[in-house]
Amino acid sequence: MLKRFVAVPLMLVLAGLPGGSFGQEERTIWDGVFTADQALRGKQVNSGVCSKCHGDRGDGANEPDQPGGPAIARFSFLRKWEGTSLASLFEYVKTTMPPDNPASRTDQQYIDVIAHMLELSGAPAGDTELPPDPEVLDFVYIEQKPQ
Ligand code: HEC
Repeated sequence: MLKRFVAVPLMLVLAGLPGGSFGQEERTIWDGVFTADQALRGKQVNSGVCSKCHGDRGDGANEPDQPGGPAIARFSFLRKWEGTSLASLFEYVKTTMPPDNPASRTDQQYIDVIAHMLELSGAPAGDTELPPDPEVLDFVYIEQKPQ
């Protein structure tokens, strides 16, 4: 009898966890997943590399002599990436941006600029940095609005 009471709740808990991800919880960008310092470092990456096509505010404004880029923050951007994980965004940015020189920055710089993009989108900073680790980023989802 006692055995059964213990076993059933434990099975329910285990069934709720995605395979191979023991202990990792799903979060969204609204859960304070980066730090203010990280976003500030990312801001420098943006203004050094990305802003000439995506704008200082990530709204897609570009310098006159540069190819235009889409918004990389706020509504239209979040709508487009809704439901995808930060692992996909990290992979995309790292392997395609800037278009004339992809993978030219460190993983740390790419994840920092993502923190900056999230901050521009209105997501709150928290106590822990986003790590440049796809296995962690896989559990952080992009949502348009806090739930
Ligand atoms: C030379 C101009 C240029 C630079 C510099 C550049 N990008 Fe882009 N970026 C583009 C263009 C053009 C696209 C659209 C590509 C496509 O749709 O195939 C794009 C697309 C993106 C997207 C996807 C946007 C969407 O609508 O899904 C992200 C995110 C992004 N860039 C981030 C960055 C970051 C971060 C940097 C700096 C490390 C950067 N880009 C540097 C031109 C640029």
